[in-house]
Amino acid sequence: MVKIAPSILSADFAKLGEEIKDVAEGGADYIHVDVMDGHFVPNITIGPLITEAIKPVTELPLDVHLMIENPDNYISMFADAGASIISVHQEASPHLHRTIQLIKDKGVKAGVVINPATPAEMIREILHEVDLVLVMTVNPGFGGQSFIHHAVQKIKQIAAWREELNLSFEIEVDGGVNVETAKLCTDAGADVLVAGSAVFNKHDRRQAINAILEATGK
Ligand code: DX5
Ligand code: ZN
Repeated sequence: MVKIAPSILSADFAKLGEEIKDVAEGGADYIHVDVMDGHFVPNITIGPLITEAIKPVTELPLDVHLMIENPDNYISMFADAGASIISVHQEASPHLHRTIQLIKDKGVKAGVVINPATPAEMIREILHEVDLVLVMTVNPGFGGQSFIHHAVQKIKQIAAWREELNLSFEIEVDGGVNVETAKLCTDAGADVLVAGSAVFNKHDRRQAINAILEATGK
């Protein structure tokens, strides 16, 4: 079963609680929380305070995507705020193994993320330690960007390694996922689709989620 993780980056922040309830009722599996620091990416968004505030709104796992420099300094705060999954960028983590251990030590699922220009090989040695691999199909920083098709081959590569190494991490795809691109991701081996604008920019969120899932044909 393909999972869907609506990204609240495209929600109406003035009524964030209602927006989260709306997608939860509409069939979301995770709530994707995009954390940006204005350094690793050219935008500033949500921090631990907002994460903590939305935790009681939903029983769905909070899937926290850290697009920040020095993630080690903030893992504890996001874990305490109620994150169920914390994903860190390979590009922001010079000691990735240590960073992943810090997440797991907090009792939270650990994910690793790669940008479109980062080869899959860069995370090959950490695959046995993670619960989730997030493949970016846009350059992180903003919602509503176009899907970078070239990244699809990395989903295939990572799915092949998962099989070869007999591992069970989930493969998530983030950026430009919509009814046109969802099937490319799931055919390549993705399990979780992040969708921001393709869900929140639609009036009927249930219909938007169903349309994406149906487009995968799974
Ligand atoms: C991009 C974020 C994404 C983004 C996705 O920097 O990590 O999660 O919100 O938005 P869409 O689905 O609109 O590309
Ligand atoms: Zn994201």
